[in-house]
Amino acid sequence: MTTRLRTARERREQIQQNADALGIDDAYVSTLVETFYGRIRADDRINHIFANQIGEDWEPHLAKMKDFWASVAFNAGRYSGKPVPKHQALRETRPEHFEVWLSLFEQTLNDTAPTPEAVPYLMERAERIASSLQMAMFGVPGLPDSRW
Ligand code: HEM
Repeated sequence: MTTRLRTARERREQIQQNADALGIDDAYVSTLVETFYGRIRADDRINHIFANQIGEDWEPHLAKMKDFWASVAFNAGRYSGKPVPKHQALRETRPEHFEVWLSLFEQTLNDTAPTPEAVPYLMERAERIASSLQMAMFGVPGLPDSRW
């Protein structure tokens, strides 16, 4: 048996097929982002951080977050920002806010996911990114660089 490294294109196609099989597509990402940030905006434990930064016009943020989640979930390649410095600038954010963020995200997945398997698929990715952001923000050893 011969083994060979998969090309970037093959890897991308595999990721897209995996997400597709879980029912994760642009329509679902849009539902996820709209529902999740609706809940963020309604939650007094965390909404002030977003209100201070985003203000009233949420459309640009929602559009960016849909591109971000499409890139995380099925490698859409539509997001190319730098989340670490953006979050480092949110001086009032504490680890407790990440607990709130993650619990709202998990509840949103449980309420909206197109398949049961989509919940851990997206939750694992959110948790990984949240850990990475927290390491950069709160000075835990082993700082990652600003991309993951
Ligand atoms: C306590 C937790 C969090 C808070 C309070 C928070 C808050 C914010 C705020 C206020 C912005 C807008 C920043 C700006 O436009 O200047 C933002 C952007 C963003 N957030 Fe978060 N966030 C949190 C956690 C997360 C997590 C866990 C993820 C990913 C799983 C995430 C992904 C992003 C991305 C991709 C952006 C866009 C950055 C860019 O402008 O390119 N955030 N966040």
